[in-house]
Amino acid sequence: MNLIFLGPPGAGKGTVAQKVVSRLGVVQISTGDLLRSAVKEGSDLGRQAKGYMDAGELVPDALVIGLLKERIAQQDCRQGFILDGFPRTIPQAEDLAKAGVAVDKVVNFNLSDEVIVRRLSGRRIDRQTGKIYSLNPDGVPQPPPDLPAGRLYQRDDDKPDAILNRLVVYRRQTQPLIAFYERLGLLADIDAARPLADMVADLDRHLPR
Ligand code: AP5
Repeated sequence: MNLIFLGPPGAGKGTVAQKVVSRLGVVQISTGDLLRSAVKEGSDLGRQAKGYMDAGELVPDALVIGLLKERIAQQDCRQGFILDGFPRTIPQAEDLAKAGVAVDKVVNFNLSDEVIVRRLSGRRIDRQTGKIYSLNPDGVPQPPPDLPAGRLYQRDDDKPDAILNRLVVYRRQTQPLIAFYERLGLLADIDAARPLADMVADLDRHLPR
């Protein structure tokens, strides 16, 4: 089963993916995570991508498409995958189709800008495991009480200016994909303002049997 998680930054795409991958027997492929690893390694691609990412802009299609194709060709993707944050532009979606990648469902996460800004400001990542947590009192998941605080970090693009730009970029470049996949009859909407368990239950209802 191959799924695409579409939606604005901070809508919970990564959180839901982490919750369901093992049960569905698929892998999560986050182009954001792949790019952040490239930045950390200091590879050519990472150096080219860093400025765009810190500013909340999209990394050029040619760089991301190459990275994604390399990843989905790996053995562990044979049973299926969740594309979390790809495609993000019409050319990326067209390229995926041209590459013959079958998509079973495109799950569109809906959330207001106000909640997005709040969620992203409270987000912290475990630098050892890559797990996503929330420091907001009503956020989920909460970091385990015994997790040393020093292991959590805030992404550079979760600072206020970059968050606002990411929302603008989302509307301009990514939102047109909703109509693109609706025309193909693949789109399923999820209300991302609900508790995590309800989002997962919604997702299950939309999955192909
Ligand atoms: P990327 O890493 O993909 O970031 P994003 O799309 O902006 O999405 P996020 O990961 O920020 O949010 P999410 O929806 O996964 O939310 P999360 O689950 O963490 O991309 C980063 C950058 O890389 C881009 O800006 C771009 O530069 C580049 N890039 C990546 N892919 C690209 C591409 N294809 N083309 C070009 N450039 C690309 O949840 C957010 C917070 O909310 C967490 O703290 C979580 O704990 C909390 N939370 C989640 N669900 C709930 C809930 N139900 N209730 C309460 N709290 C919740």
